[in-house]
Amino acid sequence: MTTATEMKFKVADPSLADEGRLLIDWAESRMPVLMALREKFAKTQPLKGMRIAGCLHVTKETAVLIRTLAAAGAEVTWSGCNPLSTNDAVAAALADEGIGIFAWYGQNVEEFYWSIDRTLDFKPTLTLDDGADLIFRVHFEHPDLFEHIIGGSEETTTGVHRLRAMAADGKLRYPVIAVNDAETKWDFDNVYGTGQSSLDGILRATSVLLAGKNFVVAGYGHCGKGCALRAKGMGSKVIATEVKATAALKAMLDGCDVMTMDEAAKVGDLFITATGMKDILVKRHFESMKDGAIVCNTGHYDCEINLEDLKELTVSSREMRDNCVEYTLADGRRIYVLADGRLVNLAAAEGHPSEVMDMSFANQFQAMMMLAREGKDLGVGVHELPVELDQEIAGIKLSAMGVHLDQLTPEQVAYATDYSQGT
Ligand code: ADE
Repeated sequence: MTTATEMKFKVADPSLADEGRLLIDWAESRMPVLMALREKFAKTQPLKGMRIAGCLHVTKETAVLIRTLAAAGAEVTWSGCNPLSTNDAVAAALADEGIGIFAWYGQNVEEFYWSIDRTLDFKPTLTLDDGADLIFRVHFEHPDLFEHIIGGSEETTTGVHRLRAMAADGKLRYPVIAVNDAETKWDFDNVYGTGQSSLDGILRATSVLLAGKNFVVAGYGHCGKGCALRAKGMGSKVIATEVKATAALKAMLDGCDVMTMDEAAKVGDLFITATGMKDILVKRHFESMKDGAIVCNTGHYDCEINLEDLKELTVSSREMRDNCVEYTLADGRRIYVLADGRLVNLAAAEGHPSEVMDMSFANQFQAMMMLAREGKDLGVGVHELPVELDQEIAGIKLSAMGVHLDQLTPEQVAYATDYSQGT
C-alpha cells in the first residue's frame, strides 16, 4: 500500500470539506475552554517542534482539539480509533486544512491499522490515544520509533487499564498521561457525555419509546451510571448488572434494580453494555431474551456482545434501519443489534456533546503541553495530570457559563487548617 511520504491524507470524500467546516464551527462555539487555550498558546507556540500522532474518534469535537494543537505549533497527524466513528465531512475539512488525516467511516481491520501506520510514518514525538491501539502499534510493530517519542496520553478508562497492565508487566517503554483520570474528564465525560450520547444513539437507530421499558445497564461504572440516569429520566425502569459489590450497591441506592444478567436477560427490553469486559451478552442470554429485545454497547471495544453466539442462533437477518440489524432466531424471536455491537454513541450518533468534550480535550491539550515540557524527566509509567488543572478547567468552564463562585474569607481559610477547634 502507499505510504504517507506519497500520500498526505486519505479520507472518504474530500468534497465534503465545507460541510465538515460547518460542523467544526458549531463545535467551536460550544467549547470555550479549548478556544481559550488556543487563543493563549497561539501566541507563544509551546508545541512548536512537536509532531503529534493521534488515534481518536474523528468527530467535530476532535477537530477542535486538532486545530488547537496545530495553533499551538504542533504538526499533527491523525487516524480514527474505531472503524465506525469517523465523521467523513469532518475528516474532509481537516484534510483540506493540511492535517495528515487517515480516516473514513466503515474501515475494515486492515484499513484501520494501515491508517494508524500512516500517522506513524511522520515519526511522532508525542502519541495521543483513545483505547491504546496507537501505543500498542508503536510498541509491538514499530519499536524503531521509541528514539523519537517523548511520551503519550490516553483518553479512556479501557485504554488506561490496558496501559497500567502493560506497565506492571514491565513492557511500557515511555511515559503516558492518563487523561481519563482527571476529574474534569471522568466525572463529566464518562457520566453525562456517555449518558446523553448513548441514548441519542439508541434513539437515532430505533426511535423507540423509552418510557415504561426495562432498560438493562451492564456495568455500573461512570458510563453505566450515566446511561442509567438518563434512561430513568426518560421514564425507563432501569436494571443494573454488576460484578463489583460497591458498584451494585450504588446502583441500588440510585434506585435501580440489581440482578444477574441471567435474570435480566429474561425481562429486559433494551440492553446496553458499559463494562470494558468481553462476553457480557452470550448465547444463553440471547436464548432467554424477549421477542423484540434491543441490544447495544457503549464500551470501547466491540467484544461485550458476543455477536458470533447470536449469529449461531440466527436463521435470518436483515438491516431494518441505519445501525439496526434484526436477527431472527429459530423459534421466531427477533433480537435487534445496534451499530454491530460497536460504540452506539459514536457509530449511531455524534458522540458526546461538544460542551463535555471541551473539558476532556482541554485535559488532552494540557497532557501534550506537559509532555512537551517535562516528558523527558517523567519516567516510564502511567502518570496523572496535576489536580490543580481540574479547578482551572472547571473555573474557565463556569465563567463561560456566566456562573460565579463564592470565595472563602481569610477566617474560613484559617478555620480550614485549624485542627484545635471542635464543638
Ligand atoms: N468520545 C465520545 N464522544 C466523543 C466525541 N464527541 N469526540 C471524540 N471522542 C469522543
